[in-house]
Amino acid sequence: MQRFSGLAVLSLAAGLIAAAPDQPSLKDAFHDSFRIGAALNAAIFTEEDARDAALVKQQFNSITPENVLKWERVHPRPGVYDFDLADRYVAFGEKNRMQIIGHTLVWHNQTPRWVFEDEKGNPVDRETLLNRMRDHIHTVVGRYKGRIFGWDVVNEALNEDGTLRQSPWLKIIGEDYIAKAFEFAHEADPKAELYYNDYSIENEAKRKGTIALIRRLQAENVPVAAIGIQGHDHMDWPSAELEDAALTDFAKLGVKVNITELDIDVLPRTTGQQGAEVTLHAEARSELNPYPDGLPDAVQEALAKRYASLFSVFLRHRGLITRVTFWGVTDAGSWLNNWPVNGRTSYPLLFDRNARPKPAFGAVLELVKQGASN
Ligand code: GLA
Repeated sequence: MQRFSGLAVLSLAAGLIAAAPDQPSLKDAFHDSFRIGAALNAAIFTEEDARDAALVKQQFNSITPENVLKWERVHPRPGVYDFDLADRYVAFGEKNRMQIIGHTLVWHNQTPRWVFEDEKGNPVDRETLLNRMRDHIHTVVGRYKGRIFGWDVVNEALNEDGTLRQSPWLKIIGEDYIAKAFEFAHEADPKAELYYNDYSIENEAKRKGTIALIRRLQAENVPVAAIGIQGHDHMDWPSAELEDAALTDFAKLGVKVNITELDIDVLPRTTGQQGAEVTLHAEARSELNPYPDGLPDAVQEALAKRYASLFSVFLRHRGLITRVTFWGVTDAGSWLNNWPVNGRTSYPLLFDRNARPKPAFGAVLELVKQGASN
């Protein structure tokens, strides 16, 4: 039988009840700078996970659905839409007066193959795919018109060298698939904010590609409200200087920036990866999972410093950044426990496995107290 120390039992018990009522909140602390968001799984927004739902209500004022608005979930088969969970996601946000984000309309992953194929499995033509895209966007965005505040319209259209990714969207429709997706979303809900979202766009080549893409869209009067920087970060990337330089460049475009999927991975890298290509997989090896029983104090402190350093950059750009959203709520629920290696013990967020605030939580709150941005 496993044995717990008295302290461990106490902190476990504390973690099982709702968020400590006197705990300061991120949303209040950053109220004058930007919204603080979290990506939610279905257990949280249905409140089956009462502990994390309580924590979300206490700490966050913007929400993103981790999966339930992705094409494969909401539109699994031709002509078949399933809005059960998406409706509950939106209802949770409304009940709690949160900013509700839609994620994501046009992406190359988590999109069923039928979207791009005819009954024989051959690629469809441009008109067919544009019609499917229009139907999908009008149906999904139209259903939540006036309720979902902003949409990640196109996700991850760029390669690391800044060129357009050879996705089925690009191959079948051509370069204007991006403008078309925005156009359809704008038709479906003219008041919703529309975003372009991608990872590692801080890096120079991809940053240039992002800027060129946004400029092309602006020249065609496509209503892009903001660039989403995903922010699947590491301890050594992006540096504060690189983040600052990217934000300074994006500011020149006259669009806002959302930090949309923030987490900081403390585990060893399996490749040189800086992005978040979800199809990447690596074999489990024990040296890739160095902290199965808890994060050593020194790493915990280093993570706190790293979070503080990134947040001080965000605060410096607070007129530009409208929201900082974490990809998950507690370390236990993070996708990084299973990507790119299955079954690791990961520590990327501000709340630990018992939903208790980590030193990194204190470190970002401390920045606001100190007025670090002034
Ligand atoms: C990408 C996507 C998200 C999510 C994350 C990781 O960045 O935009 O929807 O899948 O990867 O889970």
